Amino acid sequence: MQVLKDRKTTRDFVPDKLPPQRLSNLLWAAFGVNRSDGRRTAPSAMNWQEIDIYVATAEGLFVYDAKGNRLSPVLTEDVRTATGTQSFVATAPLDLVYVADLAKAGTSPDTELFTAADAGFISQNVYLFCASEGLATVVRGSIDRIALAKAMKLRPDQRIILAQTVGYPRK
Ligand SMILES: Cc1cc2nc3c(=O)[nH]c(=O)nc-3n(C[C@H](O)[C@H](O)[C@H](O)COP(=O)(O)O)c2cc1C
Repeated sequence: MQVLKDRKTTRDFVPDKLPPQRLSNLLWAAFGVNRSDGRRTAPSAMNWQEIDIYVATAEGLFVYDAKGNRLSPVLTEDVRTATGTQSFVATAPLDLVYVADLAKAGTSPDTELFTAADAGFISQNVYLFCASEGLATVVRGSIDRIALAKAMKLRPDQRIILAQTVGYPRK
């Protein structure tokens, strides 16, 4: 009840980085493996588990490997600025990008709808984690998806659904 009461969007961040354990907890809450059969903290349509969480930081771009519970390096460039249209994305410590891997999704007529819904569940997990930890967050749909896909060097069968900035609130 308390985290639901505290869940909110915040757009004013300080640049301080999250300690590694906090980042690890955040990603596990977002879409970690929570059962021995490999299922996750968020539901996914037909258990496709098609949403990859990319993590853009000053140190580069990483992708969350839920099975290994680690971050896999993707790029050494800082692509935070490209993750959105609002100025805070460049300086907040963490911009998560939810990317649907269509190679993992089925070919239902509703695939587009399902990938969007699946990313929404992950985003809400992040909102609730942030509410429980006193972190600031905002989910974002306002993205230049063509430019960001290029900056992230995504494959043609990967679709950017949403981004979400996380950090400490400016008090
Ligand atoms: C699908 C979706 C896209 C959103 N896109 C943006 C965005 O691009 N930029 C932004 O600042 N907020 C964005 N928001 C956050 C909403 O503006 C925010 O949730 C709304 O104003 C309600 O505020 P609350 O989350 O504090 O309840 C988005 C929210 C959703 C669900």
